[in-house]
Amino acid sequence: MSNPKVFVTRIIPEKGLRMVSEQCQVDLWTEELPPPKAALIEHTRGVDGLLCLLTDPVDGELMDAAGHSLKVISNHAVGYDNIDVGAASARGIPVGNTPGILTETTADFAFALLMAAARRVVEGQRAVVEGKWKTWGPQWLLGADVHGATLGIVGFGRIGQAVARRAAGFGMRILFYDPSPPAGWQACDVQAEPVTLERLLSEADFVTIHTPLSGETQGLFDDRAFNLMKPEAILINTARGPVVDQQALYRALKSGRIAGAAIDVTVPEPLPPDSPLLELENLIVTPHIASASRATREKMATMAAENLLAGVRGEKLPYCVNPEVYNR
Ligand code: GLV
Repeated sequence: MSNPKVFVTRIIPEKGLRMVSEQCQVDLWTEELPPPKAALIEHTRGVDGLLCLLTDPVDGELMDAAGHSLKVISNHAVGYDNIDVGAASARGIPVGNTPGILTETTADFAFALLMAAARRVVEGQRAVVEGKWKTWGPQWLLGADVHGATLGIVGFGRIGQAVARRAAGFGMRILFYDPSPPAGWQACDVQAEPVTLERLLSEADFVTIHTPLSGETQGLFDDRAFNLMKPEAILINTARGPVVDQQALYRALKSGRIAGAAIDVTVPEPLPPDSPLLELENLIVTPHIASASRATREKMATMAAENLLAGVRGEKLPYCVNPEVYNR
């Protein structure tokens, strides 16, 4: 029997790619940019498995174009809002993701952004490069203390809790909002108080977002949310861009309604270099790199490969987001 055919939509870290190549006939998209929709459809036609990235929209049309051979969609990410999971379930196709392994790495980065925004690290670097560092200024580039401040965590899943553990080390008071906190959150090692979103927004000095993107969370941070926040508050977003209404964020930062923000995710991605957001001194933007440590990206690739290989063999995916497909 010939090896299963798979389409891998980008060059993923070597170890994962090797696992796949050893057992499959691999069609690998080697360009730096994602395959455009037509190419995605063309290359997915007739394959047994698809290993895709969060930059690849995977909808019912693509699944139908792939045809009945398609046995698995393996996303090289923990988030899977790029995939129409309902459409996959309706067609009996399991969808895999990479939960757990990027938790600590993403939390490290959320905390790095929080620290950088609080202490104006990027503005400081820019001032040095631009020759604006004249002397030690008693009132120059003053930021906010992180230790002892109140942190509001929106979404208290794995990553939200990992951020809480870091915050506890800085002596922060921790509030969280999560309409359905995961079972057992009380067992997380830190003291954190569940509160309403309104209370969190009005009390937190730093607000950090860790919810998945869904119908409920899209645009959660709108004018109303920013109006509830303290003028000295700083927003961190390492979750998904559409959770924040970017126009509202622009207004809040420009008017000084909130003190600052640091975002790793935007709408669209990449953010165009002429975006008005990039003119704001009090905003840090990074290019969706929260999970980008060498070790974590390698683990994500091997996990995505494990899901793909299990799927093409007709076995249950080790990390499946729609296990209901197995009860059909
Ligand atoms: C990154 O954003 C991921 O969802 O893995």
